[in-house]
Amino acid sequence: MENIIIDTDERIRYITINRPEQLNALNVETIAELSEAFQLSDEDQDIRAIILTGSGEKAFIAGADIKEFADFTIGQGKELSARGHETLFNLVANLQTPVIAAINGYALGGGLELAMSCHIRIASDRAKLGLPEVSLGVIPGYGGTQRLAELVGKGRAMEIILTAGMISAEEAHQMGLVNHVTFPSGLMSRAEEIARQICKNSPRAIGLAIKAVNAGLMNKSRGYQKESKPLEKRLAQRILRKVPLHFWKSARLHLQETN
Ligand code: CAA
Repeated sequence: MENIIIDTDERIRYITINRPEQLNALNVETIAELSEAFQLSDEDQDIRAIILTGSGEKAFIAGADIKEFADFTIGQGKELSARGHETLFNLVANLQTPVIAAINGYALGGGLELAMSCHIRIASDRAKLGLPEVSLGVIPGYGGTQRLAELVGKGRAMEIILTAGMISAEEAHQMGLVNHVTFPSGLMSRAEEIARQICKNSPRAIGLAIKAVNAGLMNKSRGYQKESKPLEKRLAQRILRKVPLHFWKSARLHLQETN
């Protein structure tokens, strides 16, 4: 695996996204590697908890890899979104082995969506979280509109999504988006403490409990379908193809000029 690091200590599996120079952005290869790593971890009877984090001090995951998107055709964009949803985001949410997101820095767009797919979230007090998609002319496409509303309620979710701003770890904690906030140096030990507590419990009962919690949210499936409507994907392609590499400011500017 070229984009992730996998370690195991006792019964805890550590999966670290290792693209610090790209702020751990999710490109196609990384999504595929993560998918495989999560599946293998879930199948391994010796693994009782998984901790997901990003390498470096700056980012957990700064979203989908926009540089890669820029060269995609409409078809490839749609395919990436649909495949990513099924092979990674939904996969993680439905694993029988609990996944703890240790959010060590920026968790933006697809990065926050992946953190929200995890079962538990812990953030360093330096972390910044947000769903900036609408500032790029798209909507969160990896379950973000649904999972954010589930976690923080409709009103707060609307504000975060519609303003496309970033919130601090402390704000995220106050609204229930993250379970705990720690000093950066204490992030992994807090995640490990929770993982070790999980390891003491029945893995079968834990798997069933995750299924039961998720089953209660299943009637939201129409929302997930709406989120992946082709129209938004088309728009994403139309805009992102035109965005130069310093996409962030440029994309906003582009939107202001074209809308
Ligand atoms: N994709 C690809 N590369 C990224 C990236 C991303 N999402 N985010 C950051 N990078 C790269 C930058 O291009 C830069 O690389 P180079 O040095 O080679 O140019 C490097 O990471 C460092 O980034 P910055 O210089 O921008 O760092 P900063 O400290 O000035 O800003 C930041 C940090 C605020 C997180 C800024 O990088 C940023 O806004 N990134 C984009 C975040 C974003 O829009 N994410 C959502 C993408 S859309 C999505 O995820 C949903 C979807 O499916 C469409």
